[in-house]
Parts: sequence; structure tokens; C-alpha cells
Amino acid sequence: MNLKNRIKSITPPNVWRALQRQKANRCLASYYLLQRKQYINYCAGPWNEKQRNGQYERLRSTIVYYIHRIEKGLSHRYFRSGFGKSAFAHLNELMQTWQHEGYPTDDVVFCAAENVIRAYVRKHHEIGKPIPDFINAWFADEITQSGEQTKSYARINAGTKVVRAIDKRNNASLDYESLFRNRTSVREYADTPVDMESVREAINISMKTPSVCNRQAFRILLIRNPNLIEKSLAVQGGWRGYAAPPLLALISVDIRSFVSVEERNEPYIDGGLFTMSFLTALEYESIAACPLNTMFRDEQEREIRKLLAVPEHEVLIAFIAIGNFPDVINSPMSFRYSGDMITREID
Ligand SMILES: Cc1cc2nc3c(=O)[nH]c(=O)nc-3n(C[C@H](O)[C@H](O)[C@H](O)COP(=O)(O)O)c2cc1C
Repeated sequence: MNLKNRIKSITPPNVWRALQRQKANRCLASYYLLQRKQYINYCAGPWNEKQRNGQYERLRSTIVYYIHRIEKGLSHRYFRSGFGKSAFAHLNELMQTWQHEGYPTDDVVFCAAENVIRAYVRKHHEIGKPIPDFINAWFADEITQSGEQTKSYARINAGTKVVRAIDKRNNASLDYESLFRNRTSVREYADTPVDMESVREAINISMKTPSVCNRQAFRILLIRNPNLIEKSLAVQGGWRGYAAPPLLALISVDIRSFVSVEERNEPYIDGGLFTMSFLTALEYESIAACPLNTMFRDEQEREIRKLLAVPEHEVLIAFIAIGNFPDVINSPMSFRYSGDMITREID
């Protein structure tokens, strides 16, 4: 018998458990300290703005964030002309820094930023509304640039795309590539009830999601009560400007399925995988959906837990807004990087 087992054999079980808990707590504290350091040192928070190491990456992600905000505004069913002054102000500043630093202006992200500005101008022309002064003041070059078509990413169509219910009807007969490539987040839905049997089938399909040691700790809450949906989305905050969906799902993971402190991040991995499976399965069932973050401050999380009776032993992963595809709707383009841009290979 080794020393550890010998000590265990002579220690009362409750004392042994208390010691184990203490050790786990110390380990967790040190792991979280490392995670905290890594995050604070490298994320794109404003305190890291001037740090040269990684500035390119941080600028790109922040520009993508603002492109996305503008695309959401452009895709609204009830379009508000002249919207977006604050997002464009940030975008202008970021694009200027980009150029000032000498980063390539034929980069996919920079081109998408230029193209979202052009999409904004085009939309205003189409509906006969004046272009706001801030666009002319900040982006005269982007609007008039004649050489735009020569850039390698000039055809990255930032802006919006059209989604049609009729194109989604036969999703169950598509191959994986077509189904996956054509799914998109939809935030405005038809005024018809969602077929709950299809949603339950999507959950059943999603149960094939791999999970660490097959523990299947994901949980899903289906919320149909309009009052609870409205209140949840008001707390969530990422759904402003859209009508409430007929159905809202909350994906969570039960941490009682995890055994060691080294597994501390696993709930988020398994929960993320399940979320993706569920989104794809909903698409397969010809149901429209949009994932919504649960990146909450403490009081938001408390409110959601209380409102929806989510037990403390579950971590929140994401909401999914669910509804039927409307006949036709605009959706943010949400351009993608090519695979080689994110791939490293080692021989
Ligand atoms: C974890 C997660 C959280 C998200 N949160 C929100 C949100 O709060 N509001 C929103 O409108 N979209 C949200 N989205 C949707 C993304 O904006 C969308 O997935 C992304 O732009 C890619 O577009 P696509 O889903 O149409 O391919 C979220 C997506 C994920 C994966």
C-alpha cells in the first residue's frame, strides 16, 4: 500500500473528503489564476489596445465585431435609415489605426469593412433615403474608391443576404455540406407556431454529439411561455430590436457529471458542441434559429436562473431563438475566413 492509501485508510472518511476538497480548491485557484492572466494579457480589451504583440489580430476581431453590428442593422425587417453612427465611428477609428500601422488593405477583414460601408450606402440609395453626413465625412474614400474591384477580396459581400422559406423546405434531403454551408442565423420569424415534434426530433438527433467520456451532461430547456421569453431576452440583451421568437431554448450543462478539477472547462466544450449539433439539426428539420450568448454579469445570471428555475449545478451555455422561416428575410452576410487562414500544420 502506498503512502497516500495508507493515510487514507487511517483517516476518517469525512476528514479525507475535506482534505481532498481543500486540495482541489487550491488547484482550481491556480488554474483559474493562469486562465485569468492569459485572458487579461491577450484579449482585445481596450487596456491591450496599444500592445504591439497581437495588435493585428485584435484589430481584425474588433473590426469584424462592428461589421456584424452594421450587418444586423442592415438586415432588419423594419429598417431604420441613418442608423449606426456609433458603430461607424468605431469602425472609422479602427480602419484608420489599421492603415496607420501599415497593415494590408487587401486583407479579407479590411475589405469586408469597406464593403459593409458600401452596402450601407447602397441600401440608402435603394430606398431613396439620404446618406447620413457621418458616412460622407468618414468614408468618402471607401465610397468612391474606383480601384475596389482589383482587390482580392473586393467580392466579399459584406452586408446582407436573402433567406427564403421555400429554399429550406427540403433541407432533410440535402447532403451534409449543402445543409451546413447554407445554414444561417435567422432573427425574424413567420407568425406561425413551431412544430414541437420537429424540435424534439432535432434534440434526439443532437444526442449523437460527442462528449467527454460520453457523459452527455448537456441539458435543454424549451420555453414557450411568451412572457418568460420576453423577460429572458430583455435580460439577455443581444436581441434588441427584434420581435420575441415563438420558442426559446436554453442550453446548459450539468457540472455534477464532471469528476476532477482538470475538467473545469469541459462543460463549455461539451455544451458548445451540443449547441452546434442542435443548430444543424434544427436546420435539417427546416426550422429557423439563432444562437444567443449567455455571457452575463452576475446579476443577469442570477435573474435568468431565478426566472427559468435553472439549478445552480448547471452552467449556462447559450440561448437559441427558434421559429419558422418567414417567406423571405434578410440576414447578415457574416463572411467567413477560408480554412487555410486558421490552419497551422506540423510535419
Ligand atoms: C455563442 C454564440 C452567441 C451568440 N450571441 C448572439 C446574440 O446575443 N445576438 C445575436 O443577434 N446573435 C448572436 N449570435 C449569432 C452570431 O452573430 C452568428 O452566429 C454569427 O454572426 C455567424 O453567422 P451565422 O450564424 O448566420 O452563420 C451568437 C452566436 C454564437 C455562436
